[in-house]
Amino acid sequence: MTDNPVILDVAGLAKHFTLRGPFGRVRRVVRAIDGVSFQVRRGETLGIVGESGSGKSTIGKCLVGIHEPDAGDLLFNDSSLLGLARRDRRRVARQLQYVYQDPGASLDPRWKVGRLLEEPLVIHADHGAAERRELVRAILGAVKLPDAFLDRYPHELSGGQQRRVGLARILTLNPSLIILDEPTSGLDVSVQAAVINLFKEMKAAFDLTYIFISHDLSVVRILCDRVAVMYAGRIVEIGDVEQVFEDPRHPYTRMLLNAVPRIGRPGARREIGGAGDIPAGEEVAGAGCPFQPRCAERLPRCAVDEPLPENLADGRGVACHAVAAP
Ligand SMILES: Nc1ncnc2c1ncn2[C@@H]1O[C@H](COP(=O)(O)OP(=O)(O)O)[C@@H](O)[C@H]1O
Ligand SMILES: [Mg+2]
Repeated sequence: MTDNPVILDVAGLAKHFTLRGPFGRVRRVVRAIDGVSFQVRRGETLGIVGESGSGKSTIGKCLVGIHEPDAGDLLFNDSSLLGLARRDRRRVARQLQYVYQDPGASLDPRWKVGRLLEEPLVIHADHGAAERRELVRAILGAVKLPDAFLDRYPHELSGGQQRRVGLARILTLNPSLIILDEPTSGLDVSVQAAVINLFKEMKAAFDLTYIFISHDLSVVRILCDRVAVMYAGRIVEIGDVEQVFEDPRHPYTRMLLNAVPRIGRPGARREIGGAGDIPAGEEVAGAGCPFQPRCAERLPRCAVDEPLPENLADGRGVACHAVAAP
C-alpha cells in the first residue's frame, strides 16, 4: 500500500464560514478547517476521526466541490482540482464521490431500482443501452442484491436494501475515491458489521480508495489503514491505524482513546466527547495550540505558538510542542 501512487494530495486546506447577523453584519467567523494537509494512496482507507464540529465533513465537502476552500490546494492524480473550469471540475468530480450517512435515504421514491441505477449512466452517456443494463446488473450483484430488485420501488425495500441500492448508484458513476461520512451512524452493531463487509467487498471489486469519516473509533480501527485525528479544524495526529491506536502520541489522541474502553473489541462502541466539550473553531482563532486550554502537558510556548505537524521517526505526523520538542 505504501508503494501505491498518491492519488489525493491535500495541502494547507482552509475553509472559514462567516456568520452574519441582522443587516449583514459579520457576527463571527468559524474556522471550520485550517492548514489541513494529508495524502491518500490508491487503494488505501484513511479514517478521519474527531469530535462533532472538528471539521471532518468540511474536508469531504471541499474535496467534492460542495465548498470552495479559502486557502490551500487539492491535487487529484497530480492535477489541481481548484481553478478548473466548471465543466472540467464536474468531469473530474465524478471520480470523487461524497456519501453522507445513509445513501439509501435520498432515492427517488417514484423510480424503480433499475431506473435509479441506469439514470446516472444515461446522463453521462458513456455506454449504449445494452451495455448499461449489463453494468447495472453487475453492480446490483456487487452489492449483493438479486436481479429481481430491478423492478422494485424503494419503498418495497428494507432500510438495509435501500442503503445497498444507494451505494450501487454511486458505483455506477465509476468513482475512484469515495468519501464515506458517518456511514454507520445510527446502525446497530449487527447491521453495522454487514455494512462494513459490504464496504470492504465494494472496495476490492471496484478498486476503490476510501476516506472514512466517523466518530466511532472501533469501526475506524477495523476498516482503516491510516487515521487522521482532528481537533478544532486541524489534524493533530496522523499515522498508521495500529500505531496511533496502540501508542497515541498527541495528548488529544490519548484523551480520545482513553474515553473509549476496550477499543476495537467486538461490541465495544462508545462515541467521542460529551456535549459541552466541543471546541468551537472561532474560539481557537488566536495564536497558540487550539488544544492547550484542555491539555495536561501544556508548555509555556503552547499559548503563543501554534504547533505545526511534524513527522516522528516512526513516520506519523503529530502537531504538539510537548511531543515534537527534542
Ligand atoms: N455551511 C456552514 N455554515 C457555517 N458554519 C458551518 C457550515 N458547515 C460547517 N460549519 C461549522 O464548521 C465547523 C466544522 O463543521 P463540520 O465540518 O460539519 O464538523 P464535523 O463533521 O467534524 O462534525 C463547525 O463549527 C460547524 O458549525
Ligand atoms: Mg460531520
